[in-house]
Amino acid sequence: MIGGRRVLLAVTGGVAAFKVATLARMLIEHGAEVRTVMTASSLRFLGANTMAAITGRPVITDLFDSPDSVSPHTEAAEWADLVVVVPATAASLSRLAHGQASDPVSATVLAATCPIAVAPAMHTAMWEHPATRRNVTTLRSDGVAVLGPVSGRLAGGDTGAGRMVEPDQVFSMIQAMFEAPLRGVRVVVTAGGTREAIDPVRFLSNHSSGKMGHAVAAEAARRGAETTLVTCSRLESPPGVKRVDVVSAHDMAEAVGSIEADVAVMTAAVADFRPKTAQASKLARGDGLRMLELEATRDVLGEVLARERRPRVVVGFAAETGGVERAVRKAKSKGVDLMVANDVTIPGSGFESDNNQVALIRRGGETESWPLQPKVRVAERLWDEIALMLEEN
Ligand code: CTP
Repeated sequence: MIGGRRVLLAVTGGVAAFKVATLARMLIEHGAEVRTVMTASSLRFLGANTMAAITGRPVITDLFDSPDSVSPHTEAAEWADLVVVVPATAASLSRLAHGQASDPVSATVLAATCPIAVAPAMHTAMWEHPATRRNVTTLRSDGVAVLGPVSGRLAGGDTGAGRMVEPDQVFSMIQAMFEAPLRGVRVVVTAGGTREAIDPVRFLSNHSSGKMGHAVAAEAARRGAETTLVTCSRLESPPGVKRVDVVSAHDMAEAVGSIEADVAVMTAAVADFRPKTAQASKLARGDGLRMLELEATRDVLGEVLARERRPRVVVGFAAETGGVERAVRKAKSKGVDLMVANDVTIPGSGFESDNNQVALIRRGGETESWPLQPKVRVAERLWDEIALMLEEN
């Protein structure tokens, strides 16, 4: 699948730049077309002549002094099917996150409309610095795939997180991005438990961790879908996923309502009721016992199903506490295409756990029980099902 694809390797100035020569060779051996754009500091670690010789194409090292083009960055960005910033230093991540165009690599990335991946490489302290964490979060929410880094020996002799993934791993990740059977499919996933404010300190919520929803979004993105994750969870964003953080059912309904999607997977545990009035100041013990007056929240799933242009596949989740019968009835009454039911009382399954034991309920009411397995695996199997449904309708 990599044959004939155009990969633009964007090299920034870290020691790991020497690995780019190996990566370029692997891509070319598998039939990809490869071009290279390099920052001035990357040239201290890797020769432009080396890359020109391996790729058989001139290397862009300067925005203004290019013999081949008056606008090398926009021309290369337009040419590429994928841009991989490899290695991506802390400084380059910062430039990319801030939309700068001050060097050949950041200018090219800013001009690119194709998928972008970055393979960070830096010292652990720099990787863990809050500024870098912020930049990585920004890039992820812009839909950039972040490949690694891993833990291991670093350039200065230290060991820790920040080592660039090896060329063969970058190669497989590139391969996966191109295989992407769901390219062009727009997906929205909801995740986590909503919080409904009682006062500025307290809220009504539930035990949902968001793990299942994040796994569903990760798998969608891995298969190339244009994925938006609307989440109440604090879990990290999966690579290549656009993230929208929300708190309440109302926020979630607003966010989901603004997203056009071909597939909607509603994994979130949405509160059914919220306090009628969220108090402006903290309720005090001295105020005495109170009744909490509740009102219904917005039905996020219901609003998606009622749209004029309803997504082609809508998947609901139902957390139940005994048997799937209620979930089967719920699937029918709600009119979802698939319902994933889980009994949250089964030990080792459900909320907070990395595993889940679910039953799949199809449109006609046919039920298929899956064994207890990692949530990541449930997400894979669920996407196998959804992919089949997309083919059918
Ligand atoms: N859901 C939603 N908005 C709500 C409530 C639920 O989008 N306000 C979605 C959930 O994300 C899930 C599905 O609806 O995909 C089923 O959620 P559940 O809470 O089991 O449904 P309810 O209709 O609230 O059923 P119950 O009577 O069991 O509370």
